[in-house]
Amino acid sequence: MSEYSLALIPGDGIGVDVVAAALVPLEAVADKHGFSVRHTSFDWSCARYLETGAMMPDDGLEQLSSHDAVLLGAVGWPAQVPDSVSLHGLLLPIRKGFDQYVNMRPHLLLPGITGPLRKSEFDILVIRENTEGEYSGAGGRVHQGTQNEVAVETAIFTRAAVERILRYGFEQARSRSGRLASVTKSNAQKHTMVFWDDVTDELAAEYPDVTVTRYHIDAIAARFVTHPETLDVVVASNLFGDILSDIGAAIQGGLGFAASANINPDGGFPSMFEPVHGSAPDIAGQGIANPIATIWSVSQMLQHLGEQAAAADLLRALGTVTATPARLTPDCGGTGTTDTVAAQVAAAL
Ligand code: NAI
Ligand code: MG
Repeated sequence: MSEYSLALIPGDGIGVDVVAAALVPLEAVADKHGFSVRHTSFDWSCARYLETGAMMPDDGLEQLSSHDAVLLGAVGWPAQVPDSVSLHGLLLPIRKGFDQYVNMRPHLLLPGITGPLRKSEFDILVIRENTEGEYSGAGGRVHQGTQNEVAVETAIFTRAAVERILRYGFEQARSRSGRLASVTKSNAQKHTMVFWDDVTDELAAEYPDVTVTRYHIDAIAARFVTHPETLDVVVASNLFGDILSDIGAAIQGGLGFAASANINPDGGFPSMFEPVHGSAPDIAGQGIANPIATIWSVSQMLQHLGEQAAAADLLRALGTVTATPARLTPDCGGTGTTDTVAAQVAAAL
């Protein structure tokens, strides 16, 4: 029997509730499919920062590295710790340190969920570059606070990183519909995005079975709203993928449904799975956070670990629960709680 070791970082606010809840269907699906999951919880959070001055210990990455995967709730408590501190002290070091260069977010309507669009059929997978590009962090500010102030933010696109994320997109497209949308803005950004297009063309020659369509970011943003059913796998740079996956979250019913995987495809380090939403201080401690995004992220984790049947089964169980929205949490108009929703998913298994 396979046993997986899982590092849990519940984090702050509702992160704590949704991670605890997601373990219930995880155990049920593991029992049913004949594997087990051993988990270790780490209290890395803003609360820890306030106590010790650090979001995680110096050897945090080392402590995580022996696990098969990381499940993270949400990090941030802006009333007491600036977001730049919490993000740069925990989430970003893990994504970068473990070279989780793929950020993968599925956007589709689960049964029973209508979303804000009239179109009800779409199944989009956004593949976002997760290590460089517009979020490289390169740049600076000089003459701060004066009339001569200058701020520079440099987007960095390396051949190695562009090629590996595009290749991941081609592979995903090959395993799904054979259609890939490559997101660009090469009409305006004549260096980085023309380079992105060139590498897309080079790889297209290696994947004759994949049909590539190039979309400018503004046009595809509109297309997410007007014709989402025409899209399948969408590969994008860090900034463009960030924006598109928030539109994806909106059309699939909101943050309570948006799951994400930070993947190290080479397997040299653990990958990390997390809901897209944050710590939601406005509803923290009330037991009403929607756990679906986190449970869906657990399904992505099982897929990554090679438990395909269990991953599909968990998603199917989620769908049987969402089919009756009255049983869901208040953000979906239901009267359920975080724990009752998780328990129903476990029961549906
Ligand atoms: P948020 O996602 O925490 O909340 C935005 C709104 O959506 C709130 O009204 C909240 O109640 C609602 N919401 C979010 N998740 C929900 C769920 N599962 N069920 C029901 N309602 C839900 O974003 P916000 O308020 O901008 O950020 C709060 C904190 O979270 C900040 O410190 C921010 O930096 C952090 N954050 C952390 C992320 C992470 O750990 N990956 C991602 C986004 C924000
Ligand atoms: Mg975002």
